[in-house]
Amino acid sequence: MDMGTGAGILAIFTALYSSSVNVDAVDINPQAVENAKTNVLRFGLGNIVDVYYSNLFSGVPFKKRFDTILFNQPLTSDSRFAANGSLEMSVFDPGYQTFRRFLQGAHYHLTKGGRLLVGASPNIGNPRLLSKIIRGEGYDSRIVGRNVEPSNQWDSGIEYRLLELREK
Ligand SMILES: C[S@@+](CC[C@H](N)C(=O)[O-])C[C@H]1O[C@@H](n2cnc3c(N)ncnc32)[C@H](O)[C@@H]1O
Repeated sequence: MDMGTGAGILAIFTALYSSSVNVDAVDINPQAVENAKTNVLRFGLGNIVDVYYSNLFSGVPFKKRFDTILFNQPLTSDSRFAANGSLEMSVFDPGYQTFRRFLQGAHYHLTKGGRLLVGASPNIGNPRLLSKIIRGEGYDSRIVGRNVEPSNQWDSGIEYRLLELREK
């Protein structure tokens, strides 16, 4: 499953490069949903990737479970920024409240032994708060991917991490 699919890139990539998968791709932004649907059809993946509107898991069938749930989440947790409109909601998540609800909902939609793959950044985000929330919601995490992009703002660059979370 691809939570917050945006243009659908992670869902499409997963469908193209993994064998025997079916992917549910959801987003709270109706324009993102339309965009992702168009891109999925462009790649001929209409039978493999199901794109639909959902606020976190609200639109996901009650008993549906997934081996892997991706969430390239809005990275900025700073409470000075509000996430009122669709665009802001793709970047800002004050206090990681949406991410916390995501973790709570994921317990009902992961298969036994399943995993979450979550994007994070120590520069843009708040890694201490993120770790506290992850532990508090009953998951163990480890870094499984890392990339650093050059930046004018941070001498060491902007670091992106891919975290793998499993239920304790
Ligand atoms: C950082 S963007 C990632 C987009 C895409 N997955 C990618 O990697 O390019 C975060 C996405 O999460 C979506 N989002 C934010 N809050 C959400 C919610 N409550 N339920 C579903 N999607 C949400 C946003 O609309 C946005 O498309």
